Formats: sequence, C-alpha cells, structure tokens
Amino acid sequence: MKKVVITRNINPDMLQKLRKDFEVIVWEADEQPMPREKFLAETRDAHAVLTMLSDKVDEEMLQNAPELKVVANLAVGFDNIDLAAAERREVVIANTPDVLTETTAELAFTLMLTSARRVLEANQELMDGEWSGWSPYHMAGTDVFGKTIGIFGMGSIGVSFARRLKGFNCNVLYHNRSESEEARALGAKLTSFESMLERSDFVLCSAPLTNQTKHTFDKKAFSLMKNSAHFINIGRGAHVVEADLAEAVKSGEIGGAALDVYENEPIGADHPFVGLNNMTLLPHIGSASVATRNNMMNLCVNNIMEVLNGGQAITPVQ
Ligand code: GLV
Ligand code: GLV
Repeated sequence: MKKVVITRNINPDMLQKLRKDFEVIVWEADEQPMPREKFLAETRDAHAVLTMLSDKVDEEMLQNAPELKVVANLAVGFDNIDLAAAERREVVIANTPDVLTETTAELAFTLMLTSARRVLEANQELMDGEWSGWSPYHMAGTDVFGKTIGIFGMGSIGVSFARRLKGFNCNVLYHNRSESEEARALGAKLTSFESMLERSDFVLCSAPLTNQTKHTFDKKAFSLMKNSAHFINIGRGAHVVEADLAEAVKSGEIGGAALDVYENEPIGADHPFVGLNNMTLLPHIGSASVATRNNMMNLCVNNIMEVLNGGQAITPVQ
C-alpha cells in the first residue's frame, strides 16, 4: 500500500477518503508542527506528503524520500519548497490556488479597514475600561473611500482585492511583473514600484515570495511612502525588512501597518512589532475560514489521489 504522510490533522472525511486506498500517517497535534526529525523519518518511505507552509521540503528531505511522487502544500504560496530540487527528482508539487482567493482578499480588506479606523486600539480602550465618552476626534482615523490604493503583486488575490475597492470608489495602482488584463478591466493602473509607493494611501503586498521579491519593503521603500500611508501585508513576512518597518512605524515615516505574516513564524511578545502603536497584527490567518480550509484540504487530497493513481495533479505549480 502506498504511504501518505500528513503533517497536521485534517478534516476526518478527507482522511477517510485517503484511508480507503492508502496507508495514512497523520501528525495529530493540532497546534504544533510535526518535528523535523519525525518529518524526515516518516517521509523516508512515503509516496505522497500533504505539507503545511511551515514544513521545509528541501534537498535533504527529498533526497531522503526516494519513493516520493507528490507533495501537496496546503497553501497557495510554496516558498517552503525547493522547486528545482523537486523537479530534478520528478516529484510533483501542488498548491491550493483559487479556492482561497476570496477569503484571503477579505482578510486583506479587514486589515485595511481595521488599520484605517483604529479598530483594535478603540476596542482595547473600551475593554480596559478607559472609554470616557464621545468626543469629536476621539479615535478618529482615516477613510478608505475615494483613496489611492497600491497593490504589489497583481495575482488573483490582488485582483479580488481590487474588485472590492471599486465599491469604495478607490483609485487603484499596481506593480507587477506584467500587466494584468483583469486589473486593467477593473480600471487599475500598472505603475513603477516607486510611483505606486509615492502616490498610495494604502499599500498592499500580495505577491508571492521569490528571490526577486524578498525584502522589497525596506527603509527606502517606506521612506517613499506618504507619512499618512498604511502598509498591509498578506504575502510573506520576508517581503519586508522587519526592523525597517518597525522603525518606519515608530518614527512616523508611515501612518500604520497591518500584517498577517512574519519572517519567522510564530512571533512572540518579544517581537519588535508587538506593543507598537499603529500596528495591527494577526497570526497568519489569511485563508482561515472553515469552508476555505476544507476546500484547500480537499484539493490537496485530490491532488495526491490523482498522482498516486497515475494521473496528473489538478493544480501543479510547475
Ligand atoms: C498562505 O499564506 C498561503 O500561501 O496559502
Ligand atoms: C455619530 O454617531 C453621529 O451620529 O454622528
């Protein structure tokens, strides 16, 4: 029987579906990733692995797993996987595009509105029993309606975010490797990175993490942004030089930041972002709606079944 390793607990219905045809090993600890040693030991004779973005699929792991045919990553991003090494060994890599697009765009929108309207700060004040009553500029934030929004990375999540912005009558600029027809149809304008930063009131990072996009948001980038602008990141933490962002927020170089991702996750209370005013920090929940997570798991399971049964992956990344 072919062996499938799953590095976190998944929906029992989907497990059952796999167990009909395969030997399935699941790491059942809900909140802790499968330890690296265990991951290497279990994948040594595995034919398929269902991975999380916290699992490193690298040369060492692939070399160690001669039977491996497919890795299904429960994420749209796949920067945790060495694609070149996988290709050399003819291991198929699949991700979960499309099924998480709307959910992730909604989280980006949530971050933007939360940051603009100081929602967390206002909530904290009330929870702390510090609300002394209504006054004209109490917790007054900034509008999103009618503003200029810059989107770095116009993939399907960027497009979905831009579509929502139409309802807010926003002017949308974007920077991408190439022009997006869908973005153009929405009235979004392709600009240089610098021009987008200079003109935008909110800047969203929704790009994939690659060697080209790593550490794009650095001191220079934040210095080009308006002092009132908010930076939102739902891509990957490593798009940002975190020390530069902390400094930019602290010094008032930018107006605020709202983040779902960090360079080394999870971050703890000792991270320089924690406790800064004008920072909205979420624990990487971009695609975390129950329905979407179920859809992502289902897609991973189907990718594995297709490949192990001799077919093609449904959503291969290469
Ligand atoms: C989440 O960050 C993903 O890449 O799906
Ligand atoms: C605010 O609550 C208003 O009525 O303006």
